[in-house]
Amino acid sequence: MDIRIRSFKEYEQKYAQSVDEPDSFWNEVAQQYIWRKPYEKVCQWEFETPDVQWFLGGKMNITENCLDRHLAARGNKTALVWEPNDPRVGAVKLTYRELHEKVCQLANALKSQGVVKGDRVIIYMPMVPELTIAVLACARIGAVHSVVFAGFSANALSDRINDASATMVITADGLNRGAKQVPLKRVVDEALESCTTIQKVIVFDCVGWKPELHAGRDIWWHDAIDGMALSCEAEEMDSEDMLFILYTSGSTGKPKGVVHTCGGYMVYAGYSFQNVFQIEENDVYWCTADIGWITGHTYIVYGPLLSGTTTVMFEGVPTFPDAGRFWQVCDKHGVTVFYTAPTAIRALMACGLDHVLPYNLHSLRLLGTVGEPINDEAWRWYYLHIGKEKCPIVDTWWQTETGGIMISGLGGLSPMNPAHAGFPLPGIQPVLLDQEGKEITSNEVEGYLCIKYPWPSMIRTTYGDHERCKHTYFSHYHNHYFTGDGAKRDENGLYRIIGRVDDVINVSGHRFGTAEIEEAINANKYVVESAVVGYPHDVKGQGIYAFVICDSMPEDAAIRRDEIIETVVEQIGRIAKPEKIQFVTGLPKTRSGKIMRRILRKVAEGDASNLGDISTLLDPDVVADIVKGAQ
Ligand code: PRX
Repeated sequence: MDIRIRSFKEYEQKYAQSVDEPDSFWNEVAQQYIWRKPYEKVCQWEFETPDVQWFLGGKMNITENCLDRHLAARGNKTALVWEPNDPRVGAVKLTYRELHEKVCQLANALKSQGVVKGDRVIIYMPMVPELTIAVLACARIGAVHSVVFAGFSANALSDRINDASATMVITADGLNRGAKQVPLKRVVDEALESCTTIQKVIVFDCVGWKPELHAGRDIWWHDAIDGMALSCEAEEMDSEDMLFILYTSGSTGKPKGVVHTCGGYMVYAGYSFQNVFQIEENDVYWCTADIGWITGHTYIVYGPLLSGTTTVMFEGVPTFPDAGRFWQVCDKHGVTVFYTAPTAIRALMACGLDHVLPYNLHSLRLLGTVGEPINDEAWRWYYLHIGKEKCPIVDTWWQTETGGIMISGLGGLSPMNPAHAGFPLPGIQPVLLDQEGKEITSNEVEGYLCIKYPWPSMIRTTYGDHERCKHTYFSHYHNHYFTGDGAKRDENGLYRIIGRVDDVINVSGHRFGTAEIEEAINANKYVVESAVVGYPHDVKGQGIYAFVICDSMPEDAAIRRDEIIETVVEQIGRIAKPEKIQFVTGLPKTRSGKIMRRILRKVAEGDASNLGDISTLLDPDVVADIVKGAQ
């Protein structure tokens, strides 16, 4: 059955149906997939515990829907195009049949290494085809994959391994990123010094280094798959069995493991992909995210493969060997749909049109953005110079926890307004709430963005700590999922996302909790205390600004700054590096000891003119010192 909506009128009809008769709406959508055993009930839910289940009693395997289902009609169609970091190295193309074989082969290897249904497997890999293969091989045998972005440090990796009690790591000797190479296996070895649950490590030979293999624990990928059969019966999964865990930052403490389950995630990934991008059979679709983030999970791997689409995977970075790389790759592979992050657009915009003009970009028909609000200027540049004023832009709002795109235009069908995500997809019921948690029903308003009805790919729990899931998402506003974002709704009902209203900073589309970065900074032996806030950054959207109290200082403050940055890199990874560090003697705290971040945010934004009432602070004088120090 075709689940594509083909006009705005149809969108309106479907939206109304999805609200009036949600079960019949989702039942229609779910019918396009192969279920080994049909579900008995579409949805059962309450947001108190919370307890949300979709397609109850249904049995399936997502890889049968991504691969086997396409073999008859699309066996020779390209499933995956891999573009390497170095443009002089040839691209790799895998047909649906080839991908199916490789997934089965690795699935058999995982089984022979002792992995069974329900085991957690950490995947810490470069953006190579084997990463996609590893993800799907886990899903094939019912192992729960947890991909950790290969820019995270050993410390961050071991935290995730331990939280998930994972039994296997799949990694590579190293990775290529622009002009650099990173020794991934060395990071894994270091991480495993503080892990006890890992029994096996599979190492893919990516860069030709020869890392030491621990006897009995480590095995080369090529040895593991040697002699393994190219077919592998897919494990029968319950709709509500866990498919994957993906760690993401929240406003408190350590990152939490967001849990997604098989049936609902599958249904929503394919549905949202086909509708937002208005996918056609001959599309060559490219999402530039890393599979270490949710965008890569849903819109490089699962959404496109569920839809039988050709998906492009890129190993490198937008500026290597020069800032024209994205556009060169678009021309080279005839990309029709291009999906990237505002931070990348802003970075490339700053490099100038000389890097765009050599490419014709004729194949493009639709552009997308994700991860953070896009500013007007970047939107216009993207529309004019990349889309040549003929490609609609979909600004897609969603989260790790939502599993798929929630608010977005449907490629060219819906009204488009720069920097507005737009309307919700059919099946999604967003609301804006005021301070008291009352729904604001009119337009031209602003409030806390919540969702009042479940959708198939929503977070089920935070791994190992259901209470945390309840507390973080379901206890702020009764009977609502709270997104953590603030949003506006304009006079036409289009949503515009403003940004986080909690202590989460969005740096280049990546989420960090202020508490998480503070904890990392505080791990430096000279640091007594710190407070971190976000501030507007031209390219990254937000930058990290740290106010730090040290017990002693060297003559040259730059030395201490570098040491602190090094500590953060060790604790989390280079992506969490503070942009600015200001040394202070005290922090603005209330009498109960709470840091007044509002004041620090103002200082970080360079606007100390109106700091509001500071008389309730424990030590108001500290503010003047901070303002002076910032200047
Ligand atoms: O603040 C919103 C912002 O990114 C957050 C989710 O981050 P993450 O779970 O890492 O997932 C990013 C990719 C889906 C949201 O709470 N965000 C995401 N998309 C947009 C956005 N902000 C504005 N506009 C968007 N299109």
